[in-house]
Amino acid sequence: MKAMVYRGPYKVRVEEKDIPRIEHPNDAIVRVTKAAICGSDLHLYHGLMPDTRIGTTFGHEFIGVVHEVGPSVENLKVGDRVMVPFNVYCGSCFFCVRGLYSNCHNVNPNATAVGGIYGYSHTCGGYDGGQAEFVRVPFADVGPSVIPDWLDDEDALVMTDALATGYFGAQLGDIREGDTVVVFGAGPVGLYAAKSAWFMGAGRVIVVDHLEYRLAKAREFAHAETVNFAEHDDIVVTLKRATDHLGADVVIDAVGAEADGNLLQHITAAKLKLQGGSPIALNWAIDAVRKGGTVSVMGAYGPLFSAVKFGDAMNKGLTLRMNQCPAKRQWPRLLEHIRNGYLKPNEIITHRIPLEHIAEGYHMFSAKLDGNIKTVIEFDAA
Ligand SMILES: NC(=O)c1ccc[n+]([C@@H]2O[C@H](COP(=O)([O-])OP(=O)(O)OC[C@H]3O[C@@H](n4cnc5c(N)ncnc54)[C@H](O)[C@@H]3O)[C@@H](O)[C@H]2O)c1
Ligand SMILES: [Zn+2]
Ligand SMILES: [Zn+2]
Repeated sequence: MKAMVYRGPYKVRVEEKDIPRIEHPNDAIVRVTKAAICGSDLHLYHGLMPDTRIGTTFGHEFIGVVHEVGPSVENLKVGDRVMVPFNVYCGSCFFCVRGLYSNCHNVNPNATAVGGIYGYSHTCGGYDGGQAEFVRVPFADVGPSVIPDWLDDEDALVMTDALATGYFGAQLGDIREGDTVVVFGAGPVGLYAAKSAWFMGAGRVIVVDHLEYRLAKAREFAHAETVNFAEHDDIVVTLKRATDHLGADVVIDAVGAEADGNLLQHITAAKLKLQGGSPIALNWAIDAVRKGGTVSVMGAYGPLFSAVKFGDAMNKGLTLRMNQCPAKRQWPRLLEHIRNGYLKPNEIITHRIPLEHIAEGYHMFSAKLDGNIKTVIEFDAA
């Protein structure tokens, strides 16, 4: 089969690999029909994720058709059209039974924090991902769901990560009716978080980024007010002015460790790799939220961090909430929002490419070229 393969930082290409085999009775092999590139894949692509091994295949946002099932699989059959949440999880451990699918204890021998994620380095379990013609899906009775007939492929695709994560980000904000919600980052996660904030009763939604074309999408898709942080000397002061000098009730960080906006942090984190990433978006979130407010962190961070304004968070009485999204938990509500016409997730997809163009796909997304927001890899296009 053809698969995207990592060759080192900033180097990905398509190679021939063996089709994965059933390794456990509850495995399924899924023939991928669509996959996407996630902002999290950029951390791998930039060489920032520990133990990202040469030769591995990325891709944790994908849908497909069941090609083969192991002997104990009961919920899926060959030919089913399925969406597969980005988390690999057992469904029955201490954490899974509490809905903490992204913290499953049984799928990742390397970590005491994160569970398993498809195509996300050996730090996250070493599973090959779905930017390939076929993928092995462990615990096939637990993660995947058959896609309802009425749901478009592209809408199902983003449910497996970006959409579920944006929604989860808004949920963790504990938004109350009328709240002002600030979202840092107008990538797919931020756009979906901003849109979801309205579903939860927000009275005002403000999206912050420095890419004007993405802010335009935030206005159009998420009906948000927007602020370009590059046009303001001090984005926190700007946001305070916009919120009666109190700060926002809820701030969602949809940026993570590769934040721009502070040269020193960017160089020590992203370039010199002296720390787990730049905390600038997180610090803006801590500063821009009001006392007693909530910061919801969806942006991804490496394990060790310095220069986080933790004392300010403490003294402001903030609630900090965060996790990798347990994607399947959001599906029932998201399906209803889509079915009722409140949400058309694929409106943020800007590029559709064949797997052969994967290197350009990563480059374009990483460098934010050609108005890129979300790229879908189409396997059934040829
Ligand atoms: N928690 C989860 O389960 C989960 C799931 C998916 C993605 N993520 C993470 O969410 C983050 C966003 O993902 P994405 O796919 O939207 O990525 P993306 O790269 O498309 O979007 C990030 C956006 O943040 C903007 N940005 C950079 N610095 C900023 C700053 N200081 N303030 C405001 N905006 C800034 C960028 O211009 C970009 O538009 C990533 O860190 C990704 O790893 C987490
Ligand atoms: Zn992701
Ligand atoms: Zn588990």
